[in-house]
Amino acid sequence: MKDYNKLIEQNAEVVRKKLESNSSFYDELAKGQQPNFLWIGCSDSRVPANEVTGTEAGDIFVHRNIANLVNNTDLNLMSVIAYAVGVLKVDHVIVCGHYGCGGVQAAMSNADVGIINKWIRDIKNTYARNWDELKELDDKARFNRMVELNVEEQVNNLAKSTILQKEWKERSVEIHGWVYDLGSGRIKDLGVDVSGTDHLPDVFKLDV
Ligand code: CO
Repeated sequence: MKDYNKLIEQNAEVVRKKLESNSSFYDELAKGQQPNFLWIGCSDSRVPANEVTGTEAGDIFVHRNIANLVNNTDLNLMSVIAYAVGVLKVDHVIVCGHYGCGGVQAAMSNADVGIINKWIRDIKNTYARNWDELKELDDKARFNRMVELNVEEQVNNLAKSTILQKEWKERSVEIHGWVYDLGSGRIKDLGVDVSGTDHLPDVFKLDV
Protein backbone atom coordinates (compact mmCIF):
# COMPACT_ATOMS: atom_id res chain seq x y z
CA MET A 1 0.00 0.00 0.00
CA LYS A 2 1.18 3.53 -0.73
CA ASP A 3 2.16 5.57 2.35
CA TYR A 4 -0.53 8.16 1.81
CA ASN A 5 -3.29 5.58 1.35
CA LYS A 6 -2.36 4.23 4.75
CA LEU A 7 -3.33 7.60 6.24
CA ILE A 8 -6.84 7.36 4.83
CA GLU A 9 -7.19 3.82 6.04
CA GLN A 10 -6.07 4.87 9.51
CA ASN A 11 -8.63 7.69 9.42
CA ALA A 12 -11.40 5.14 9.01
CA GLU A 13 -10.04 3.32 12.02
CA VAL A 14 -9.94 6.54 14.08
CA VAL A 15 -13.59 7.22 13.24
CA ARG A 16 -14.59 3.68 14.12
CA LYS A 17 -12.92 3.89 17.54
CA LYS A 18 -14.32 7.36 18.30
CA LEU A 19 -17.88 6.32 17.52
CA GLU A 20 -17.42 3.20 19.58
CA SER A 21 -16.69 5.28 22.71
CA ASN A 22 -19.03 8.18 21.86
CA SER A 23 -21.61 7.66 19.13
CA SER A 24 -22.44 11.39 18.89
CA PHE A 25 -18.81 12.60 18.79
CA TYR A 26 -18.92 13.85 15.20
CA ASP A 27 -22.47 15.19 15.49
CA GLU A 28 -21.31 17.41 18.36
CA LEU A 29 -18.12 18.44 16.55
CA ALA A 30 -20.05 19.44 13.44
CA LYS A 31 -22.20 21.88 15.43
CA GLY A 32 -19.31 24.27 15.92
CA GLN A 33 -16.18 24.99 17.90
CA GLN A 34 -15.58 26.67 21.23
CA PRO A 35 -11.89 26.15 21.91
CA ASN A 36 -10.45 27.95 24.92
CA PHE A 37 -6.86 27.92 23.71
CA LEU A 38 -4.88 29.30 20.79
CA TRP A 39 -1.67 27.38 20.21
CA ILE A 40 1.18 28.98 18.29
CA GLY A 41 3.77 26.28 17.79
CA CYS A 42 6.52 25.07 15.51
CA SER A 43 5.71 23.16 12.32
CA ASP A 44 8.08 20.42 13.49
CA SER A 45 6.30 17.07 13.04
CA ARG A 46 7.25 16.01 16.56
CA VAL A 47 5.20 18.66 18.36
CA PRO A 48 1.52 18.15 17.47
CA ALA A 49 -0.56 20.42 19.72
CA ASN A 50 -3.39 18.01 20.55
CA GLU A 51 -1.21 14.98 21.02
CA VAL A 52 1.31 16.53 23.41
CA THR A 53 -1.43 18.13 25.51
CA GLY A 54 -3.80 15.16 25.60
CA THR A 55 -6.60 17.24 24.09
CA GLU A 56 -9.29 16.43 21.55
CA ALA A 57 -10.46 17.91 18.28
CA GLY A 58 -12.31 21.10 19.17
CA ASP A 59 -10.13 21.97 22.17
CA ILE A 60 -7.33 24.03 20.61
CA PHE A 61 -7.21 26.52 17.73
CA VAL A 62 -3.82 26.00 16.12
CA HIS A 63 -1.26 27.94 14.12
CA ARG A 64 2.16 26.48 13.41
CA ASN A 65 5.13 27.84 11.52
CA ILE A 66 8.88 27.35 11.47
CA ALA A 67 10.24 28.24 14.93
CA ASN A 68 6.84 29.42 16.26
CA LEU A 69 7.33 33.04 15.31
CA VAL A 70 4.88 35.87 15.88
CA ASN A 71 5.63 38.17 13.03
CA ASN A 72 3.75 41.46 12.91
CA THR A 73 3.37 41.35 9.13
CA ASP A 74 2.34 37.70 8.87
CA LEU A 75 -1.20 38.01 7.52
CA ASN A 76 -1.81 34.32 8.07
CA LEU A 77 -0.94 34.36 11.76
CA MET A 78 -2.54 37.75 12.41
CA SER A 79 -5.80 36.46 10.91
CA VAL A 80 -5.62 33.36 13.08
CA ILE A 81 -5.10 35.51 16.20
CA ALA A 82 -7.88 37.91 15.22
CA TYR A 83 -10.32 35.03 14.81
CA ALA A 84 -9.24 33.05 17.88
CA VAL A 85 -9.10 36.05 20.22
CA GLY A 86 -11.73 38.35 18.72
CA VAL A 87 -14.37 35.86 17.56
CA LEU A 88 -13.84 32.55 19.34
CA LYS A 89 -12.83 34.48 22.48
CA VAL A 90 -10.15 32.09 23.67
CA ASP A 91 -8.89 32.94 27.15
CA HIS A 92 -5.36 31.67 26.65
CA VAL A 93 -2.79 32.10 23.90
CA ILE A 94 0.11 29.68 24.16
CA VAL A 95 3.41 30.09 22.35
CA CYS A 96 5.09 26.70 22.49
CA GLY A 97 8.64 26.29 21.22
CA HIS A 98 10.68 23.13 21.49
CA TYR A 99 14.26 22.23 22.33
CA GLY A 100 16.15 21.05 19.27
CA CYS A 101 14.27 23.45 16.99
CA GLY A 102 15.91 23.42 13.56
CA GLY A 103 14.69 26.94 12.80
CA VAL A 104 16.37 28.37 15.89
CA GLN A 105 19.51 26.33 15.20
CA ALA A 106 19.76 27.65 11.64
CA ALA A 107 19.29 31.21 12.90
CA MET A 108 22.18 30.74 15.35
CA SER A 109 24.50 29.77 12.53
CA ASN A 110 25.78 31.48 9.39
CA ALA A 111 24.05 28.98 7.12
CA ASP A 112 22.35 30.28 3.99
CA VAL A 113 18.96 28.56 4.05
CA GLY A 114 17.45 30.29 1.05
CA ILE A 115 14.08 31.93 1.46
CA ILE A 116 14.01 30.75 5.09
CA ASN A 117 16.75 33.35 5.77
CA LYS A 118 14.00 35.96 5.68
CA TRP A 119 11.74 34.05 8.01
CA ILE A 120 14.31 33.39 10.73
CA ARG A 121 16.11 36.71 10.70
CA ASP A 122 14.20 37.99 13.72
CA ILE A 123 15.66 35.09 15.68
CA LYS A 124 19.13 36.40 14.81
CA ASN A 125 18.13 39.74 16.33
CA THR A 126 17.12 37.97 19.55
CA TYR A 127 20.42 36.09 19.47
CA ALA A 128 22.51 39.21 18.99
CA ARG A 129 20.58 41.18 21.61
CA ASN A 130 21.09 38.48 24.25
CA TRP A 131 24.69 37.67 23.37
CA ASP A 132 26.06 38.82 26.76
CA GLU A 133 24.06 36.05 28.45
CA LEU A 134 24.44 33.47 25.68
CA LYS A 135 28.21 33.75 25.33
CA GLU A 136 28.69 32.38 28.86
CA LEU A 137 26.99 29.08 27.96
CA ASP A 138 28.28 25.96 26.23
CA ASP A 139 26.82 25.05 22.83
CA LYS A 140 23.99 22.85 24.10
CA ALA A 141 22.93 25.19 26.88
CA ARG A 142 23.11 28.14 24.49
CA PHE A 143 20.85 26.40 21.98
CA ASN A 144 18.34 25.52 24.71
CA ARG A 145 18.41 29.06 26.10
CA MET A 146 17.88 30.52 22.64
CA VAL A 147 14.77 28.36 22.21
CA GLU A 148 13.47 29.85 25.46
CA LEU A 149 14.42 33.43 24.59
CA ASN A 150 12.74 33.01 21.21
CA VAL A 151 9.49 31.99 22.91
CA GLU A 152 9.73 34.96 25.30
CA GLU A 153 10.22 37.26 22.33
CA GLN A 154 7.09 35.94 20.63
CA VAL A 155 5.06 36.35 23.82
CA ASN A 156 6.10 39.99 23.82
CA ASN A 157 5.37 40.32 20.12
CA LEU A 158 1.82 39.19 20.86
CA ALA A 159 1.53 41.79 23.62
CA LYS A 160 2.61 44.46 21.15
CA SER A 161 -0.14 43.56 18.69
CA THR A 162 -3.19 45.75 18.16
CA ILE A 163 -5.42 42.69 18.33
CA LEU A 164 -4.41 41.76 21.89
CA GLN A 165 -4.25 45.35 23.09
CA LYS A 166 -7.78 46.02 21.83
CA GLU A 167 -9.10 42.82 23.38
CA TRP A 168 -7.48 43.67 26.72
CA LYS A 169 -9.65 46.79 26.86
CA GLU A 170 -12.69 44.48 26.92
CA ARG A 171 -11.65 41.39 28.81
CA SER A 172 -8.83 39.28 30.19
CA VAL A 173 -6.68 37.17 27.84
CA GLU A 174 -3.51 35.48 29.04
CA ILE A 175 -0.43 34.76 26.95
CA HIS A 176 1.82 31.91 28.03
CA GLY A 177 5.31 30.83 26.96
CA TRP A 178 6.13 27.13 26.96
CA VAL A 179 8.89 24.88 25.66
CA TYR A 180 8.37 21.25 24.72
CA ASP A 181 11.22 18.90 25.52
CA LEU A 182 11.50 16.33 22.74
CA GLY A 183 13.75 14.18 24.90
CA SER A 184 11.25 13.71 27.71
CA GLY A 185 7.93 14.58 26.08
CA ARG A 186 7.29 17.11 28.84
CA ILE A 187 6.23 20.73 28.52
CA LYS A 188 8.17 23.36 30.49
CA ASP A 189 6.25 26.49 31.49
CA LEU A 190 8.72 29.37 31.21
CA GLY A 191 6.65 31.49 33.59
CA VAL A 192 6.58 34.44 31.22
CA ASP A 193 2.81 34.92 31.35
CA VAL A 194 1.54 38.25 30.06
CA SER A 195 -1.96 39.68 30.33
CA GLY A 196 -1.39 43.34 29.53
CA THR A 197 1.11 45.94 28.36
CA ASP A 198 2.51 47.11 31.71
CA HIS A 199 5.88 45.44 31.12
CA LEU A 200 6.34 46.97 27.65
CA PRO A 201 8.25 50.17 26.92
CA ASP A 202 5.75 53.03 26.53
CA VAL A 203 6.17 53.34 22.80
CA PHE A 204 4.53 49.93 22.24
CA LYS A 205 1.34 50.88 24.11
CA LEU A 206 -1.13 51.78 21.40
CA ASP A 207 -4.03 54.21 21.72
CA VAL A 208 -6.57 51.52 20.99
CO1 CO B 1 11.05 23.84 15.51
